[in-house]
Amino acid sequence: MDAQVYKSDLIFTKNDKEFTSMEQAYLVVENGKVLGVFDRLPGKYESIPLKAYESGFLIPGFVDLHLHAPQYENLGIGLDEELLTWLNKYAFPEEARFSDAGYAEEVYKEVVRRLWENGTTRSVIFGTAHKGSTEILLRLMKKSGLGAYVGKVNMDRNSSQELTEDTERSLEDTEAILDAYRNERLVKPIITPRFVPSCSPRLMEGLGRLAEKYDAPVQSHLSENTDEVEWVKELHPDCESYAHVYERYGLLRQNRTIMAHCVYCTGSEKELMREKGVFAAHCPISNTDLTSGIAPVKDFIAGGVNLGLGSDISGGHTLWMPEVLVHAIQVSKLYYLYKDKDCGRLTLPEAFYLATKGGGSFFGKVGSFEEDYSFDALLIDDCAIIGQGKRSLEERLQKFIYTGEKGCIIKRFVEGNELGYTER
Ligand code: GUN
Ligand code: FE
Repeated sequence: MDAQVYKSDLIFTKNDKEFTSMEQAYLVVENGKVLGVFDRLPGKYESIPLKAYESGFLIPGFVDLHLHAPQYENLGIGLDEELLTWLNKYAFPEEARFSDAGYAEEVYKEVVRRLWENGTTRSVIFGTAHKGSTEILLRLMKKSGLGAYVGKVNMDRNSSQELTEDTERSLEDTEAILDAYRNERLVKPIITPRFVPSCSPRLMEGLGRLAEKYDAPVQSHLSENTDEVEWVKELHPDCESYAHVYERYGLLRQNRTIMAHCVYCTGSEKELMREKGVFAAHCPISNTDLTSGIAPVKDFIAGGVNLGLGSDISGGHTLWMPEVLVHAIQVSKLYYLYKDKDCGRLTLPEAFYLATKGGGSFFGKVGSFEEDYSFDALLIDDCAIIGQGKRSLEERLQKFIYTGEKGCIIKRFVEGNELGYTER
């Protein structure tokens, strides 16, 4: 038996209503999973080695449900543009550089190191359309010990010339990756049609078949920007909505599909998402940076749609999930003030839940310290930010989320393993 006991302050969310906080509690881990949390250590665990972290506190690791690793070098660039212009001017030219394996290796090493540094223990990642560079990213993620889904992007229409794929080749490359990584545990492939405008019906149909054959998850973009939504209507006038296009091609797999953004989803789209257990990846920083809009997250929560948070770099300008979390709260307050007084505002426990257990549930039992959850955790040292007075554990977490930085994270664990610094 591989077991460990951690003694520390613990704070996490079992639901989106409130924090569970325990001071100087015991967290027992066996084979990477949480066996339980206890105020007093039960006698039967006394022989297990104990590690005490008495001055810091443990939280679940952050989950980023949506990011574009190859856009890392573009962080902060071009954000006066809106989505469709930005894609052509900034995202596509940068992604085209990933035909060069050496460049991919350099940039992806940096992205992996940054994910580690920022305490993002699980992420769901878009690569590029290139098979070779996507395999590099899969390999580097695996080496890091972080958990991830990584997708080779599919795009065979309405892209730049360099990135436009031959449909059959796109499907073959995707299948080769699905096949090669089918038995992986922590870092797995995900089918990644970029979005409806860049995928022909034949490509989407083929991807739907592969999803079924390999029982694979799917990620894409949905209803992010008004021009994009209009464009999809023109391309697929016979479909009831944008989401129904994905549904037609078998790309909304029960509880296994992530759709990024969902800013302009209609009532019937939300209903379809709820039925299919689609995860909406709310990317508030990106939606503000690209002037896309404000996703009605409180509606999604009230409607029982699965929900998590995404940085969406480099539509969003940071990988730091506490900033994404704070921005989610801020834009929900603006939505409440200016758009809909009935919907309420996102609270800190709700946003923290989304950044941990909400997104984590795409991976299974991830994002909490409840029994049988993967022990994915961050040890936070808040000495530098706590100030003078005595603070409750919940206040210390609030301060960390709003004013902390990555230097406050002093240990990272995934499935019970402590992950050391990843050298460049
Ligand atoms: N829609 C299609 N591709 C992209 C992308 O790279 N970023 C964002 N934010 N939206 C997209
Ligand atoms: Fe995106």
